[in-house]
Amino acid sequence: MNELNFVVDSAKEAFEKALTPADLENAKALFLGKSGRITELMKGMAALPVDEKKSRGAAINLAKQAIEAALNSRRQALADAELQIQLQAEALDVTLPGRQRGQGGLHPVSITLERIEAIFGSMGFEVAQGPEIETDWFNFTALNTPEDHPARSMHDTFYVEGGSVSAPNLLRTHTSPMQIRHAVQHVKQHRAAAEAGQPSVGLFSGSMPEIRVIAPGRTYRVDSDATHSPMFHQCEGLWIGENVSFKDLKFVFTDFCRTFFESDDLVLRFRPSFFPFTEPSAEIDIQFQTGPLAGRWLEVAGSGQVHPNVIRNMGLDPEKYIGFAFGMGPDRLTMLRYGVNDLRLFFDGDIRFLSQFQ
Ligand code: DAH
Repeated sequence: MNELNFVVDSAKEAFEKALTPADLENAKALFLGKSGRITELMKGMAALPVDEKKSRGAAINLAKQAIEAALNSRRQALADAELQIQLQAEALDVTLPGRQRGQGGLHPVSITLERIEAIFGSMGFEVAQGPEIETDWFNFTALNTPEDHPARSMHDTFYVEGGSVSAPNLLRTHTSPMQIRHAVQHVKQHRAAAEAGQPSVGLFSGSMPEIRVIAPGRTYRVDSDATHSPMFHQCEGLWIGENVSFKDLKFVFTDFCRTFFESDDLVLRFRPSFFPFTEPSAEIDIQFQTGPLAGRWLEVAGSGQVHPNVIRNMGLDPEKYIGFAFGMGPDRLTMLRYGVNDLRLFFDGDIRFLSQFQ
């Protein structure tokens, strides 16, 4: 029996010493192989008397089973160790931040346009949109700027195909044509409703609902330098009613500027000017009292009381209806708000510039 124990112990020791599966298989051959120790012990039984054979055989079998068990447990241990090494080598640091897909964002001028719409929306203004290719009528004539009027030369116009020889179509040079387009539509809707016996729908009661609208959008002029781009943005404003005065313009525009720039430290100046479609007319300048731009007068809009001829072209009686209009530059407002000094940066599409506004 001691001899068998010794064989089992030697096998266990040999298996423990095997550091790889291949070593282990070699060690196995020494004990369980065709000419291994167990096989030899079996063969040695042939010489034993029959009555000893039985107990000897059982003992050898026990030894064999013990060796096989040791072998299996060593096999498992080696496989586990190997798996452990592999796991470590291929370890993933799941706490590392993933590689993200680049995220887009709104263009700074779009952010400004959204702010303008929200602020005027809160003051009860509708938002209207119109075509960028305009007729001569809406862009000039209806706005009290007839052919050969010197004010036309203030606009360096891009003309396009269409229209007539004397009045070709054009890329709108300002958003002011939307004053006429929106008002005409508004008046038409109101008259159709009245004819159908329906009550006036709109902001205020009275014979005609008031017109209160802003019209943001792209505009075009033949012009290009650090503060001019051939494509730029404007936002028109119009408020027409039976009793709308310059005082309302001052209140609305002051309130807008203070909300837009998030500052009450802001003074407005209405500087007399000329536009064919308003009388009187004024440029609106703002002055910050604090911050990097403090003390400078900055022009942000043209404005005025809508000219009687324009009221007439809207389909309204200038003896009865009165109001104001303004046209401002969202690009300029964006430059002032963020301290950008070159307008062209907005339209170059350089992601390094644009991503700073996210
Ligand atoms: N359309 C003018 C321009 O582009 C700006 C303007 C001035 C618009 C006075 C107005 C206004 O509505 O009343 O220079």
